[in-house]
Amino acid sequence: MKFFIDTANLDQIKEAQDLGVLDGVTTNPSLMAKEGITGRENILNHYKKICEIATGDVSAEVIATDYEGMIKEGEELAALHERIVVKIPMIKDGVKAIKYFSDKGIKTNCTLVFSAGQALLAAKAGATYVSPFIGRLDDISTDGLNLIAEIRLIYDNYNFETEILAASVRHTMHVLECAKIGSDVMTGPLSSIEGLLKHPLTDIGLEKFLADYKKGNS
Ligand code: G3P
Repeated sequence: MKFFIDTANLDQIKEAQDLGVLDGVTTNPSLMAKEGITGRENILNHYKKICEIATGDVSAEVIATDYEGMIKEGEELAALHERIVVKIPMIKDGVKAIKYFSDKGIKTNCTLVFSAGQALLAAKAGATYVSPFIGRLDDISTDGLNLIAEIRLIYDNYNFETEILAASVRHTMHVLECAKIGSDVMTGPLSSIEGLLKHPLTDIGLEKFLADYKKGNS
């Protein structure tokens, strides 16, 4: 299972990268705005900085919503770095744009996916990744993890190569449940990764080991 971090914060990306378990980064316009990154030039430079820190795929989202605009922007983003993945929304022109980039061998991440039908369409268009937003489904009393399971079943039925990238992951239980279902990737905040570390018995056990060592070696 690949671990992506869902942020545009360079310190957090570095922290996750330094942990040695990071496989990529996802961003979106809201996450860029949260870091105060505005203006086309600054945004493009920020993507380059992320690529310098992280060693895996970096999703960069198009702002255009028409086919020509998405192609122009996507090509500009893909030219920034070889590990940039063009992130495209699940809309009609977006499906066409995914097909265009797939034919050109440029990686894509189909975002804002909320149904199995949308995920099927993204795979048919040749998306590299499909991003079902599980947290936002949970927010409206709909089981986000069930969507991951449905997509897993459909993709396995036909050996689609599109990777399921569970997005809008909010906490460690989302990560664990996605792992059980067989999601290829999860993207979440640093806390969802670091939360996997914690267990009180680990802390208590370590304290005792160190105390016992001290007794015998002082
Ligand atoms: O990867 C999609 C993600 O950024 C959305 O997360 O927490 O805003 O629903 P959230």
